[in-house]
Amino acid sequence: MVTLRSSIRGEDDVFRQLAFASRARDGLRPSDTSEIIGASRANNARLGVTGVLVYSGESFLQLVEGPDGALSTLWRKLIIDDRHRQLTALHDGVADARWFDDWRAGYVSENALAPLLRQWRTRGPALPPDDLEKLYEFLRGTEAY
Ligand SMILES: Cc1cc2nc3c(=O)[nH]c(=O)nc-3n(C[C@H](O)[C@H](O)[C@H](O)COP(=O)(O)O)c2cc1C
Repeated sequence: MVTLRSSIRGEDDVFRQLAFASRARDGLRPSDTSEIIGASRANNARLGVTGVLVYSGESFLQLVEGPDGALSTLWRKLIIDDRHRQLTALHDGVADARWFDDWRAGYVSENALAPLLRQWRTRGPALPPDDLEKLYEFLRGTEAY
């Protein structure tokens, strides 16, 4: 189990970026992904969380960015969500600025995603700048769901 950084000196408004990968539960249905996307869109907008969720049919990759407290609460929900498994933090760090203006979900092929996840799994959970750049470009380029 990855232990995520706790908030800096208890301040709740530190701006944080968190990226994770996971595997979809066997037999996950389109209605399940619709529910995940619906809840995420509503909750994230309310909490000032932006980012991108990418789904390949087998794997998830998500980057979320926002207030530290909101991301810690989200992580606790993700850990117990049985619609995915093998939840792994790829990146967790304080950031200066948002990468994304809103939150959206995108689709990408497993062939494109799997090799990147293999690399980032071994380099995280504080990705070096080159990998962060690659992650940003990848998320920006994904097709909206
Ligand atoms: C891969 C994956 C990504 C998720 N991303 C988010 C997210 O960005 N925001 C969110 O609120 N819930 C997300 N969820 C759903 C949460 O685990 C949880 O079910 C949901 O936040 C509960 O919402 P509620 O408290 O409004 O019932 C995600 C679930 C999965 C499986």
